[in-house]
Amino acid sequence: MALAVTLGRAELGIQAPLVTIETHLANGLPSFSIVGLAETAVKESRDRVRSAIINSGFEFPARRITVNLAPADLPKHGGRFDLPIAIGILAASGQVPGDHLDALEMAGELSLGGALRHVPGMLPAAVQARKADHDLMLPSADVDEAALVHPDRCRAADHLLDICAHLTGHQPLAASTRPERAGKATPMADLVDVRGQSRARRALEIAAAGRHNLLFAGPPGTGKSMLAHRLSGILPGMSETESLETAAVHSLGGGGFQPASWGRRPFRAPHHSSSHIALAGGGQRPKPGEISLAHNGVLFLDELPEFGRQSLEILREPLETGEVTISRAAAQVVYPARFQLIAAMNPCPCGYFGDEVEACRCSPDQIQRYRSRLSGPLLDRVDLQVEVNRLPAETLQSREAGEASAPVAERVERAFRLRMRFSGRPCADLGASDLDNACALGENERQFARGALEQMRLSARGYHRLLRVARTIADLAGDERVTTTALSEALSFRRLPM
Ligand SMILES: Nc1ncnc2c1ncn2[C@@H]1O[C@H](COP(=O)(O)OP(=O)(O)OP(=O)(O)O)[C@@H](O)[C@H]1O
Ligand SMILES: [Mg+2]
Repeated sequence: MALAVTLGRAELGIQAPLVTIETHLANGLPSFSIVGLAETAVKESRDRVRSAIINSGFEFPARRITVNLAPADLPKHGGRFDLPIAIGILAASGQVPGDHLDALEMAGELSLGGALRHVPGMLPAAVQARKADHDLMLPSADVDEAALVHPDRCRAADHLLDICAHLTGHQPLAASTRPERAGKATPMADLVDVRGQSRARRALEIAAAGRHNLLFAGPPGTGKSMLAHRLSGILPGMSETESLETAAVHSLGGGGFQPASWGRRPFRAPHHSSSHIALAGGGQRPKPGEISLAHNGVLFLDELPEFGRQSLEILREPLETGEVTISRAAAQVVYPARFQLIAAMNPCPCGYFGDEVEACRCSPDQIQRYRSRLSGPLLDRVDLQVEVNRLPAETLQSREAGEASAPVAERVERAFRLRMRFSGRPCADLGASDLDNACALGENERQFARGALEQMRLSARGYHRLLRVARTIADLAGDERVTTTALSEALSFRRLPM
């Protein structure tokens, strides 16, 4: 047989489209070409494949070799096709059997000596391989994340020779087993350390239960960053689908996915000096950014105004749609980005505007400029806005510890599950039509809400935000209907005077 067909998968967002690798050996002057819109990296793959085949003790056919990666219009990069190309050449030249290759997908970069190296994004590839009912062969370095979703059908190897020994039947590779999903929980910072700040703690609990966006504003050293970092300890658990989506995005990122973090909501806290590509994703070879790595979890932006307007404006679209689109000449990549935004800031450049003790040194002009870095439309998407003020000395020195994270997490979990059962989505994601059902108001409540609408001149969006937060508060209290108590507490978290 002078023609062999092997299968692989390209990396394109969290989809992993199937790529068919056809290898043809023809008579004529010896040559080796790869066609099918292969980028430079795939061209380099030629040299690696040749060396790997020779150094593994096989013969590199002295014929006219054509490798076609189809479909041609799909951008393909990285060394992931080295393995299927090498096996294609070996099968076409009769050095390994070519049958059974049609139900087998392969990925792996080859070293010149034939060793298999890590490729990113094996988790989404494994999800697709499972859907297609295909086996998957991949480097040992990547088997853990792939076996999370496609156990029993993944086979890992360290060297091209191991794969060949499997295909010839000399030494079959063992199928992988699913790795332990939830590893030991790393001890997280606990809310018990936080003194006072009961309003901010309450806002944190409401935000966790309804997945609301939250902004803390206040002078330095009052516990804003401290509180925000403790959010990850009280977040509700993730569903199987959510866990899978989050793991798939992380698999594409530089760090890969750690099986031990399966089912735990991510908490990302990028520094304000991060570039907008680091935040939103992109680059020559597109990678997910922080907002996508925070998918189904939390994006914490500390010192919000320092991020710069351009970076912050990028957040608007994903905050609305839950995804981010990166356009390149070759293709468009869409990454999911349904994150919960938690932000902290000082009220002015010196930090003490409105403080009871320290006088603010900023001019009105400076304050104005500082705050104008946050656009209205961005702030409008933040459901909960809380002032975090200086603690009185006696609260700070009191021996009374704050409530620990565990009971808070329990209340959050209960309220979150309740809402998921009734509405199928967290309160923050309730649309206008869901709100009519989920927040049907009684006569008293309706009057109360009307009063608020008129007195506070709430916009339509402001009114919906009020209802969503009130719904979460009622869920936390276990109330079936939204009460006036819930509405008035929700009102107290409305926009800060900025
Ligand atoms: N409510 C609090 N309870 C206990 N310790 C606190 C509290 N607030 C602040 N601290 C102490 O002060 C330190 C600084 O707090 P934190 O970093 O959260 O302040 P911040 O409000 O984020 O300030 P900045 O505006 O400067 O970022 C904490 O590490 C903690 O030791
Ligand atoms: Mg801080």
